[in-house]
Amino acid sequence: MKTRILSRADLEKLLSMPDAVRAVEGAFLAHGRGEALMPPKVYLSLPQHGGDFRAMPSYLDGAAGVKWVNSHPDNPKKHGLPAVMALYVLSDPETARPLAILDGTLLTAARTGAAAAVASRHLARRGARTIGLVGTGVQSRFLLSAHRVLFPDLEVLAHDLDPASAARFAGEVGGRVAPLDEVAGCDIVCTSTPGREIVVRSAMVRDGAHVNAMGADAPGKQELESALVARARIVIDDHEQATHSGEINVPLHDGALREAQIFGTLGEVVAGKRPGRVRDDEITLFDSTGLAIQDLALARVLFERARAAGAGVELDLVGIAS
Ligand SMILES: NC(=O)c1ccc[n+]([C@@H]2O[C@H](COP(=O)([O-])OP(=O)(O)OC[C@H]3O[C@@H](n4cnc5c(N)ncnc54)[C@H](O)[C@@H]3O)[C@@H](O)[C@H]2O)c1
Repeated sequence: MKTRILSRADLEKLLSMPDAVRAVEGAFLAHGRGEALMPPKVYLSLPQHGGDFRAMPSYLDGAAGVKWVNSHPDNPKKHGLPAVMALYVLSDPETARPLAILDGTLLTAARTGAAAAVASRHLARRGARTIGLVGTGVQSRFLLSAHRVLFPDLEVLAHDLDPASAARFAGEVGGRVAPLDEVAGCDIVCTSTPGREIVVRSAMVRDGAHVNAMGADAPGKQELESALVARARIVIDDHEQATHSGEINVPLHDGALREAQIFGTLGEVVAGKRPGRVRDDEITLFDSTGLAIQDLALARVLFERARAAGAGVELDLVGIAS
C-alpha cells in the first residue's frame, strides 16, 4: 500500500525508447478512438518569473495521473537548470491510492521524442534518409533516440543558435553540424527551440519533407514561418491545445491560417480514421503541444517495470499502510 518514489536515476535504468514509442503510439491510438480522458492543460503563467507551470491530468485504460511541469526558457543560462522540469503522480483510479511519484523531467523528454517518432512513422516519406535537428537542447537527444528506434539509418544534421551546443550534440550522436538551410532541408526536420522567434522559413524546407514542430507549446510561441505552416498538411496532437498554444496558434491568431486548413489529429491518423501522408511531394507537419496521455502511458510502463525490478523507494506517504 506504499507509494513508490522513482528518481531520474531510477528511470534512466528502466527507460527503453522502443517501449516509450510503443506506449506513446498506444496513447495516440486511444485518443484517436475517443477512449482517453484528458481535460485541457491548466497554465499558470508567471512572466515575472520568466516562465510558466502546467498541470496535466488524464485517464487512459485503467490508469490515472497528473503531471506538474514548467517551461522556463532562460533557466539554462541564468541558473544552470533545465528549461523544463516535472513531477508525475500516478494513481489507482479505482481507489485513488497514490501508486507512484516519478521524476517527470526524463518522462517529458522521452514521451516528447516518442510522439515525434510516431508522427514521422505515419507522415514521413518512405525512404527518408536524413533527419535535421533545429535546436540541440534537452529534447533533441530524445527526438533523435526515438527516431532511431523506427529509422535506424538516418543521417543526422544539427543546427543551434549556440554553435558549441550543436557541436556537442553532433559529437554525441555521430551527426554533423550544418547551416540552418541544410538542416531544415532534410527529409525529416525536428524543431525544438524555445519558440520565441521564427527559425525555419518556408523556402528552407523541401517538398516531400516531414516537419515535427515541437518547440511551440504556449500562446505566442512560433518556430516556423506562417507560410510554411500554410503550405503543409497539418496534423495536430489535440485541437484545443494546438489552437491555443501550438505552432498554429500564432498564424491562426494573425489570420495567416484558417482552422479549416487543419487536416486532423495524430490520433485519428494512428487509428486509421484519416490517411497519413498522401503524396510524396507534400510537406507534412506535426504540431506537438504534448498530451497528458503521452505522460500517463509512459509513466505506467515505467511504474510496472519499477515494481517488477523493486526499483525506487517505497514510502507510506499518505499514512494508509498500517
Ligand atoms: N511539444 C512538446 O510536447 C514539448 C515537450 C517539452 C518541451 N517542449 C518545448 O520545446 C522547447 C525546447 O525544449 P528543451 O527542453 O529542448 O530546451 P533547451 O533549452 O534544452 O534547448 C533549446 C535549444 O534551442 C536553441 N535555440 C534557441 N533559439 C534558437 C534559434 N533561434 N535557432 C536555433 N536554435 C535555437 C538553444 O540554444 C538550445 O540549445 C521549449 O520551448 C519547450 O517548452 C515541447
